[in-house]
Amino acid sequence: MILRLQSNIQFIYELALARMELRSFAVSFRVRNSLRSFSADGTADTSTLKHRLAYCEKIDDDFTDYYFIQKYNQTRSVNQYLTHWIYPYKGKYHPQMIRSLLNIIRLKQGETVLDPFIGSGTTAVEAQLLGISCIGLDVSPLCVLISKVKTESIYVLEEIKNLRSSIAPNKVVSAQSDMLRGQSWDLIEDEKVRNFYNIAEMIAHSDESRRKRDFVKSFYENIDKMVESVNDYRNASKELGLKLGDVNIIEGDARSLDIPNNSVDGIITSPPYSIALNYVQNDAHSLKALGYNLDKIKGDFIGVRGSGFEKFKLYNSDMSKCFKEMYRVLKPNKFCIIVIGNVTYQGEEINTTGVTIDSCKKAGFQFLEKVDKIIFGLYNVMQKEYILIFRKEIEGE
Ligand SMILES: C[S@@+](CC[C@H](N)C(=O)[O-])C[C@H]1O[C@@H](n2cnc3c(N)ncnc32)[C@H](O)[C@@H]1O
Repeated sequence: MILRLQSNIQFIYELALARMELRSFAVSFRVRNSLRSFSADGTADTSTLKHRLAYCEKIDDDFTDYYFIQKYNQTRSVNQYLTHWIYPYKGKYHPQMIRSLLNIIRLKQGETVLDPFIGSGTTAVEAQLLGISCIGLDVSPLCVLISKVKTESIYVLEEIKNLRSSIAPNKVVSAQSDMLRGQSWDLIEDEKVRNFYNIAEMIAHSDESRRKRDFVKSFYENIDKMVESVNDYRNASKELGLKLGDVNIIEGDARSLDIPNNSVDGIITSPPYSIALNYVQNDAHSLKALGYNLDKIKGDFIGVRGSGFEKFKLYNSDMSKCFKEMYRVLKPNKFCIIVIGNVTYQGEEINTTGVTIDSCKKAGFQFLEKVDKIIFGLYNVMQKEYILIFRKEIEGE
């Protein structure tokens, strides 16, 4: 049997993850000379591989589900398919990598993955597509909204479409600006529909403040693109016969999780990279438009508090609380994956990755592996990040 890699695969870490995926499905294989395909013996369960693999596009003559999923894309960016693109959130991780990590930690349909720093909801969408349940938590009310809209709008598509035809024609009318900017969505009874329109407004705020685009024009363009993306989501799941996983998005603090001990089957997350991004300032326009007082909510964001080197101390002690909580809620013998990078402060590289490994070990995790990953993009300040794999040891071992 020949398994061919997706044509967008370019990096060593992707080949490494592709191999780890195959191993997790107990496939015995060898990498062929081109490095773009594997040959495997005929005993592998091809139907599971076809349904789950992230880095292969073809198994013999059959395309994988993921090959088709990526085609449902309203953007020009290969990995912003389905609802992934919704809201220009800084610091998203790569959906394809998350799909492969869900495979690598062997999560099955109906099991639960936790992402205590859900951000824009990447883990939630990828788990949902594989029929894996997801608990996603974030301290930012904006992230909670974005993640809900990406995963819940599919259940209210008709209601969303009905409202779209009644709100306004698709043209620029500056008088509409005031109407759209207000909290007029409060009148929408259904929470999922209300969230959808709220996020469409937030994207327009972001487009206006970051890209200097016309607010009303951006609102209508985005809303139509969002409707098409949710439509794509529905079509993809119908055509591929996907059984979507349950998603539970919660506003909360990762330092103190309201989740029972030993209850989740896996953790995949990417916490703030120390002080690299100020998540309050980044989304200030949207958080303000949602009616939040930035000074008030700032206190609970990790990596934002304090000044100078004090920031790092606070970050480390906050994260050590989070790792203890992650350890507490994970079932024994299950895996926890953390994606993180080092920041440079006043010309000095701060070893956030090393501190993370030590802190996780102190929390009780066994450190298994570190995969180096390039951060690709011309304007990125950081060039590299790491995928850290831990396991909660079986008690008594
Ligand atoms: C690196 S981002 C996660 C991005 C996410 N992986 C994605 O693909 O969009 C880190 C997130 O941690 C959140 N955060 C910061 N402090 C937190 C806390 N105390 N509890 C939970 N989330 C927090 C931030 O709001 C931000 O969304």
